Formats: sequence, C-alpha cells, structure tokens
Amino acid sequence: MGNVLDRVRRCADAIREKTSFTPRTALILGSGLGGFGERLSLEAVVEYSEIPGFPISTVPGHQGRFLFGYVGQEPVVVMQGRVHYYEGYPMEDVVLPTRVMAQLGAKRLVLTNAAGGIGSQLEAGDLMLLTDHIASFVPSPLIGPNEDQLGTRFPDMTEVYSLRLREKALAAAQKLGIRLKQGVYLQTTGPQYETPSEIRMYQALGAHAVGMSTACEAMVARHMGMEVCGISCVTNLAAGLSDKALSHEEVQETADRVAQSFQSLVWELLSTIEE
Ligand code: HPA
Repeated sequence: MGNVLDRVRRCADAIREKTSFTPRTALILGSGLGGFGERLSLEAVVEYSEIPGFPISTVPGHQGRFLFGYVGQEPVVVMQGRVHYYEGYPMEDVVLPTRVMAQLGAKRLVLTNAAGGIGSQLEAGDLMLLTDHIASFVPSPLIGPNEDQLGTRFPDMTEVYSLRLREKALAAAQKLGIRLKQGVYLQTTGPQYETPSEIRMYQALGAHAVGMSTACEAMVARHMGMEVCGISCVTNLAAGLSDKALSHEEVQETADRVAQSFQSLVWELLSTIEE
C-alpha cells in the first residue's frame, strides 16, 4: 500500500501514462448527474479499473471513470462515480480520488451530491448551495500521519466552501433562472437513511441537508489548498418530514427529474469559474 503520498503519486502516474491533459477544475458527479459527461468536449477517458489501487464504486447508478475535457475554455477532470464510506472503503480510499485530481493539477473542486432536505424552506427537487458542512459524524479523512507535502497538520476549516465560488454559483443560477437555495450540509456514514429523531437532532444542530458524501472530500481538498464549491440536489425530504418512507428509487427519480437544470447550472459555473 505505502503511504498516502505514494499512493496518490502512483495513481496520478498511471493516469499520466494514458493522458497528458492537465485539468484546472475537478468535478465530482453525484446521483443523476452522470449525463453531464455527454456535454463535455472530451479529450480522454480513464476507467478507475485501469488505475492500480483505485477504489471502485459498488452503488447502482454510479459509473467509474475519469473524463478529461473542456467546459468552454475550462480544462476539467470529471469523476463519473465516487466511492462512499458505507461501501466499506476506509476514509483514505474514499478521498484518494480527490487527492489524485489535485495531484494532476486541479486547483478547484466542484462537489455535487443527492441529499435529504432538513430545512423547512427546502422541497424535493431543490438545488442547495453549500455554505458550510458538519462532518462530526464521520471519521476525519485527515486522521493518520500527516503528509506535509499535501498540506498542514491542522488545516483551517473556516471557509471550506469558497465565498468566491458561491458567488459564481449564485450568479450562474440567476443567469439561468434556476432557483438555488443555500444551507449547511451534514454528512452521515449511511448506508441507512436517518430516523426521524436523528433528523430532529440534525435540525437542532443547524443542518439543512443530509447526505453520505462530500464533506470528507471537501476536507482533503481544503487540506491541499483547493478552492471548493458544493451543490446538493435535494431529492427528498428527510425522514419524518413527509409521510413517505425513503427509498433509493425516489432519490434517483428526483435526481433524474432535476438533472437537466442541475447540469446546466454546473456547466455555467464551470465555464465562468476562471473569470
Ligand atoms: N438521507 C441521507 N442521504 C440522502 C438522503 C437522505 O434523506 N437523500 C439522498 N441522500
């Protein structure tokens, strides 16, 4: 296995053997956003299975490959499929792809996900810009010997989700006439959905949406000095907030319904991200 830095470098080297493309922005696609890749002016595709030691997703609806290409003028690397902690991968593996994208040259990270709505102002089908996160319910991906070459031992998390990128995302939404709400994302381990009591606790803690990814990736990205933006697709109201039981099918259905506007928003954000 070796240490984290060796793993990151080995994965980046394996990708470098397939493409010399240097991304400036990295994008991780959540549920329902898989189709984003079709819009990309594609330069290269690297399957995760071609990268030694790379974690591969077991979740239905998640693919497993990196797309390299352009959104307008912006050189991007897109992760079509991510792995989650609940799949049994250690946190180090869950966040390895994020670190590899940074190693390849990405300075910015746009994270997307599906989430349950907790905030009273959220409805199923809403898009929510992350203003902050609560990651206290998952192990920190930064536990272990610190790789000083990646970042500092005790990284600051005051502004995980860059104000500059939030303003870009809000401007993109306004230009497209897409309603973009804002709030705090709370990461759980999953894979079970929450109980109504847990949701009431998360409400009391100040969370607006809950999901099983993203905060851990945002933390390692900040550790490496990347500028981070996060957008959730609120696929359902969280447990106890509607009279329906939760299901992965409902999550996927809503994600698919909102996919077009979500994709347009992310596209507009990426194509204006450098300005
Ligand atoms: N809870 C946790 N994760 C989720 C949810 C939810 O309600 N919806 C989509 N991802």
